[in-house]
Amino acid sequence: MSSWSVVSGGEAQTLEFGIKLGRLLQQPTLVLLQGDLGAGKTVFARGIARGLGVDPQIPITSPTFTLMNHYRARLDLYHFDLYRLSAPDELVELGFDDYAYGSGVTLVEWPEKLDNPDTPGLWVNLKRIGDDSREIFFSPQGETNRELIIMLQGICTSNQDSDLSKAEGM
Ligand SMILES: Nc1ncnc2c1ncn2[C@@H]1O[C@H](COP(=O)(O)OP(=O)(O)O)[C@@H](O)[C@H]1O
Ligand SMILES: [Mg+2]
Repeated sequence: MSSWSVVSGGEAQTLEFGIKLGRLLQQPTLVLLQGDLGAGKTVFARGIARGLGVDPQIPITSPTFTLMNHYRARLDLYHFDLYRLSAPDELVELGFDDYAYGSGVTLVEWPEKLDNPDTPGLWVNLKRIGDDSREIFFSPQGETNRELIIMLQGICTSNQDSDLSKAEGM
């Protein structure tokens, strides 16, 4: 499998996909979140944080000005938003590599700002396909990330029927 995608019908569903992925994370992982402004990168990141067990009282917002937020959970979570990164040097100052290849989970919004467009990790691309719908593409690199997405695919596929039947029952 090189890539797999799911369609989200609304913010709550994107959050739920993030939660499902977050629950599956067991080891250091670098997640690269691509998508235009408003695509839902932060919503998805929030889901991952919840799935990892970040205290639900703590708000998860884009670290647009601070560039990085750190949360404690089952695994330490480092949430980067590189939108305002002015030069790659700043990444060195931030100690980016220590986080990205450290012992926690690192989420990166705007990974296009990284020097290396082929940064190995779990690439997730959110595309707006309607006001409230998004297609979420998963392109895992490396064996562990591929296995992770196969597991996520299994969970999402088996849940889709019950989601559908819930929707029909409404
Ligand atoms: N299916 C969806 N998934 C995620 N967000 C959605 C969806 N439909 C509508 N939205 C809205 O799009 C916006 C996404 O915001 P955000 O996650 O901050 O985007 P980004 O971090 O990519 O700039 C929110 O206002 C959210 O309510
Ligand atoms: Mg954001």
